[in-house]
Amino acid sequence: MKAVVQRRYGSAVFGELAVPVPGKGEVLLEVRAAGVDMGVWHLLEGKPYLVRFLGFGFRGPKSPVPGRDVSGVVKEIGPDVTGFEVGDEVFGTCEGSFAEYAVAPVSRLARKPAGISFTEAAAVPISGGTALQGLRGVQAGQRVLVLGAGGGVGSYGVQIAKALGAHVTGVCSTSKVGLVRSLGADEVFDHTVADFTGTYDLILDCGGGRTLSRLRKATVEGGRVVLVGAETGGAVTGGFEKSLFSLVLNLFVKQKFVPLMSQERGEIFDELRVLIEAGDVKPAVGEVFPLSEALDAVDHVYSRRSIGKTVVAI
Ligand SMILES: NC(=O)c1ccc[n+]([C@@H]2O[C@H](COP(=O)([O-])OP(=O)(O)OC[C@H]3O[C@@H](n4cnc5c(N)ncnc54)[C@H](OP(=O)(O)O)[C@@H]3O)[C@@H](O)[C@H]2O)c1
Repeated sequence: MKAVVQRRYGSAVFGELAVPVPGKGEVLLEVRAAGVDMGVWHLLEGKPYLVRFLGFGFRGPKSPVPGRDVSGVVKEIGPDVTGFEVGDEVFGTCEGSFAEYAVAPVSRLARKPAGISFTEAAAVPISGGTALQGLRGVQAGQRVLVLGAGGGVGSYGVQIAKALGAHVTGVCSTSKVGLVRSLGADEVFDHTVADFTGTYDLILDCGGGRTLSRLRKATVEGGRVVLVGAETGGAVTGGFEKSLFSLVLNLFVKQKFVPLMSQERGEIFDELRVLIEAGDVKPAVGEVFPLSEALDAVDHVYSRRSIGKTVVAI
């Protein structure tokens, strides 16, 4: 099969590999599309170095193919699989979606939402799942601020917070203002012109770049700041210490910092399927690249030019 092949960190090529064989609890997918996010860049580069201690491979990547978000069609069923059949259209996550075929654990798959394309479905799992988990507990009428609202996670954050009945403010740079408005944000701040003002019940921080003090002051007493992630933390820890420090700060302040470690599970993707089929969420697909240019797609996301979610269509 054609695939992006990655034998060591910092180096990958477009080439050929044998089609993988599904093991226990897994299915073989004919991949139709693969979502691209900063996580793919981290695993291609092995940076921040902390990721090498998190089970993805210390000296080199465990998976010979990058890519995690996936949509596709079940081609073969491994041992002990129930609930899925050959021919099912699915979406979710796996190791190695930048390929014509990939093996996926069924625990990380759900049925593809009706009424959207495979390209749109592949834009959902990691970013949509992260936003959904970060916004748990939001009540109708609450004020939610989404930092990085025009990016992968933020674009779902705006829509899911609106679906929960919140008043939503998005913060992004100029080229993403139109998208964030179209996603339903009640207010949009272009941070290149003026930074956001006001106080919020929940801040979903997908952009980084603000101090904990700035975030705390913009949150009401009893409110939460969900730290999703940022690319501002350096090559060693990626800013993990900011999350640790926020937990210490929780002992002294009336707001709560919540460093998010999102989970990838079929049940979560199924919740997203329901929101999409109800019309509450629409994947904001930005640029679409062919498989042979998957590494350019990752560069595109890394360069911050990406608006919404970038996808590789196979
Ligand atoms: N905790 C978790 O489980 C989890 C899960 C998924 C992703 N993440 C992390 O969360 C972050 C957001 O993910 P994403 O997929 O939404 O990324 P994304 O698509 O790149 O969007 C992030 C947005 O943040 C802003 N941004 C990017 N770099 C910035 C910088 N250096 N300073 C200030 N703002 C910056 C950009 O918006 P503007 O250009 O409009 O400013 C961009 O649209 C990433 O760091 C990712 O690795 C964490």
